[in-house]
Amino acid sequence: MGLRHGARAGLLRVVRPSTWRQWARVANFLGYDGAELREASVGAGARISPTVSVRNGRRVSVGAGAQIGASCSLWAGDSTGRIVIGDHALFAPDVFVTASNYDFDAVPGPVMAAPKREADVTIGANTWLGARVVVLPGVSIGDGSVVAAGSVVTKDLPPGVLAAGVPARVIRKRGEQR
Ligand SMILES: CC(C)(COP(=O)(O)OP(=O)(O)OC[C@H]1O[C@@H](n2cnc3c(N)ncnc32)[C@H](O)[C@@H]1OP(=O)(O)O)[C@@H](O)C(=O)NCCC(=O)NCCS
Repeated sequence: MGLRHGARAGLLRVVRPSTWRQWARVANFLGYDGAELREASVGAGARISPTVSVRNGRRVSVGAGAQIGASCSLWAGDSTGRIVIGDHALFAPDVFVTASNYDFDAVPGPVMAAPKREADVTIGANTWLGARVVVLPGVSIGDGSVVAAGSVVTKDLPPGVLAAGVPARVIRKRGEQR
């Protein structure tokens, strides 16, 4: 009796339209971003979370052994802006990298109608970007640098430093005593 009731409830869940809508959303997300990711250049042994969001994947390059965490976004530009990530870089969840800005000063109306300004982003080898770091167009982060959680990187960072804050500022060299 209990078993039959359970099976019936399970069957009802499967045929419910909301279940199918949910699966359609998941399939759409995975299909779109999966296709973009397949266009990217990915080095040997790199691990990329299936929930990563990629735009213009042919202008995205992820180095060997790098790890890109859950819900990170790698949004390269529509025409030129590339995102280049070095070997063994580690991205915590929710890191957002973009190689493109709207030139919102160029038009008075909707920002979406504005042209885009694109600039390459380079993130060095052996870097660690903490959770929710944002990296803006044109920025270069040197090899081995660490960016603290929640920072917004608006300008270049040299190699081998810890940087934090909004905007991100160098706090100290990596390996130095605190
Ligand atoms: C950067 C981090 C590793 C701390 O490094 P640390 O050397 O121990 O740094 P400290 O805690 O000694 O802090 C040094 C200074 O930076 C500041 N700071 C540290 N993290 C910061 C952050 N996320 N944003 C702003 N300032 C920060 C501290 O307040 C401190 O400032 P003070 O000298 O004025 O007091 C840590 O703060 C961090 O962001 N970790 C990322 C965690 C994460 O995303 N994990 C996901 C796993 S992949």
